[in-house]
Amino acid sequence: MRFSANGSLRLRWAGLTLAGILTVTTVTIASPQTVQAAGEVNVYSYRQPYLTKPLFEAFTKQTGIKVNVVFAKKGLIERMAAEGRNSPADVLLTTDIGRLTGAVEKGVAQPVQSEALKAAIPEAYRDPNGYWFGLTTRARVVFASKDRVKQDKISYLELADPKWKGKICMRSGHHVYNVALIAAMIAHYGEAKAEQWLRGVKANLARKPSGNDRAQVKGVYSGACDLAIGNTYYMAKMQLNDKKPEQKQWAAAVKLLFPTMSQNGRPGGTHVNLSGMVLAKYAPHKANAIKLMTYLASPQAQKIYAEVNHEYPVSPNVKWSKLVQSWGQFTADDLPLAEIAKLRKKASELVDKTGFNRGPSS
Ligand SMILES: [Fe+2]
Repeated sequence: MRFSANGSLRLRWAGLTLAGILTVTTVTIASPQTVQAAGEVNVYSYRQPYLTKPLFEAFTKQTGIKVNVVFAKKGLIERMAAEGRNSPADVLLTTDIGRLTGAVEKGVAQPVQSEALKAAIPEAYRDPNGYWFGLTTRARVVFASKDRVKQDKISYLELADPKWKGKICMRSGHHVYNVALIAAMIAHYGEAKAEQWLRGVKANLARKPSGNDRAQVKGVYSGACDLAIGNTYYMAKMQLNDKKPEQKQWAAAVKLLFPTMSQNGRPGGTHVNLSGMVLAKYAPHKANAIKLMTYLASPQAQKIYAEVNHEYPVSPNVKWSKLVQSWGQFTADDLPLAEIAKLRKKASELVDKTGFNRGPSS
């Protein structure tokens, strides 16, 4: 069985070739024997082919196990839920703690108890119950104007200081990246202080939240704001963007500051989020799936993540890419992502309560 990149598939089984292009949901009519062909593993991936291709090629080379992939930007978790027991998915790859726990909440994951995964992935970056595992981290940082911002240090709390009035660009408060950040603020400072903080940040916005993380950096470049909030790897995506060279200029206009989060009154770390994986609840190739998951957490795969996508490997023993190193060292907030996950709903409610997405003037 083979999936193509656009989500369609071809079925080849027992000498019978079904060459017509079928939708993925059609696989639900395939017999269990069809999906249990030896030496395969099926991945549903929100992560893009340029990143996963080298990972899967290296895995196949090492194990002989063929990797079939369905890529999509949306709807994979819903598809797994709809396919139920007949889902061909073995492993789901995604980004953000919200999507990892979302897969668990939708009932499409099963736990893995693996000493190898426990040894490879720090405790803060995996589910205590084994339902999800982080593979990379990304810090949510401040991109500050090189020309207009003199300071080289900042805290998240400071983003609510009136001195930044009209100077902050930020995407929707409801985006998963910001929900996790706000959840981390609640975890560290309590709900009341986090609400006050969010109101302060809203008052400091230069404009109504819209666009993605890179659009906020463009805002700094164009002079709309002095500070933009975004994830670290976007710096690499802009700095290396040969197809859209204007993004290199956006990146060149900013310096990357790692904001700190106070911990028990002491200066603490920078908020990080995850990309990660879950084992599908009805994984037809469970043993191969666990082999793939173990591989993705291995130093070899972690190095590929670091070099290809300029994320931070969860493995503390794998070096950051040279480019990532050039942005400087930082200490990550040590709050377990599982704790952040529990506060996501509250964070989302705060976004509504404060009217954050209505922008600064309402
Ligand atoms: Fe992203």
